Amino acid sequence: MDTAKICKAEVVSKFHDVEESWDDEFKSLVQTFPKEKSWTGSNFYFYQGFWCPSIVLRAVIAFQKHFQACDSDIIVSTFPKCGTTWLKALTFSTLYRNQFAWDENPLLTFGPHQLVRFLEYDLYLNNPFPDLQNVCVYQPRLLSTHLPYASLPTSIKDSNSKIVFICRNPLDMFISLWSFLYMLGDESLEPLSLDEAFDKFYHGIYAYGPFFDHVLGYWKASQENPNKILFLKYEDLKEDINSQLKNLAMFLGVPFTDDEEKQGVVEEIAKICSFENLKEVEVNKKGVHISGIPHTGFFRKGKVGDWSNYLTPFMVERLEKLIQEKMHSSGLTFNLSSKTSKDITSA
Ligand code: A3P
Repeated sequence: MDTAKICKAEVVSKFHDVEESWDDEFKSLVQTFPKEKSWTGSNFYFYQGFWCPSIVLRAVIAFQKHFQACDSDIIVSTFPKCGTTWLKALTFSTLYRNQFAWDENPLLTFGPHQLVRFLEYDLYLNNPFPDLQNVCVYQPRLLSTHLPYASLPTSIKDSNSKIVFICRNPLDMFISLWSFLYMLGDESLEPLSLDEAFDKFYHGIYAYGPFFDHVLGYWKASQENPNKILFLKYEDLKEDINSQLKNLAMFLGVPFTDDEEKQGVVEEIAKICSFENLKEVEVNKKGVHISGIPHTGFFRKGKVGDWSNYLTPFMVERLEKLIQEKMHSSGLTFNLSSKTSKDITSA
């Protein structure tokens, strides 16, 4: 068996075995949650208004219960498949740019998910009390989550910690997710067809879904408190990474100086974090994330509008209507394509 196949088998078995490790008290708690089959055959539990993958349910609850935010913390919060890996790399490089020599950027040796660690998908995964003091090499602490805003630990919401959030047009997100899970399937598990996956997607049944509730939760919170939450969109980063980086640096409290701008620091960060560069870094071409997912799985095409290569006109029409319905009067819009700049706008 080659390495890729071992990885796939390990991920699938991890996702399936987790419930057997739950104690009776946790099993009876979980019994009260609505349940659905996930796209890979394990379970999702409807917890606090989102579909939580069984593999992280315990970790989510431990994170919510025990995490104590510091005022200086920066939390990268994302909807899965919306640019988490990219945003981790950008935030890490921007925030810590004066803490390492430029040609020794840790991104050349470690993957973005190793440098900015997930709280529920990593640190709390096998330990309800992880040693958070020692996991962050640089200061201030930079950590990450996929939790919806409403489900974040109170200390994150109540402290002066800051949140950088990214989302993406849901059509590309759907295709990215489907392709990602397709990669996870092994011989013993038939991946969902696009039609089957679309049906689940349309009804909001996927990890951390429904997408719209999640995104609008952060959107509203960012409108109410723009100094606490920076709301980013994948398509905007693709369109003008330099402006978005300057905006990010300003938000983080580490604006680029005139000298840095003259020296091309902004462009350098954009370049090192680019899809083309990160995909080719050795560590991102091999090995697995602690959740069992191969690092290569986080880099696919990195494009805006790839959905048009997969979705039927019927699917597109249904999703466009869904976007209109869900985002109605929110003021939030998504670019569906980098070429035509076709917008789905709210009424
Ligand atoms: P595609 O599947 O459309 O290619 P996440 O990191 O949240 O899992 O999101 C994964 C998506 O971001 C994938 O999209 C992946 O290719 C893309 N991606 C990863 N690194 C990127 C980068 N440095 N720049 C732009 N896109 C990136």
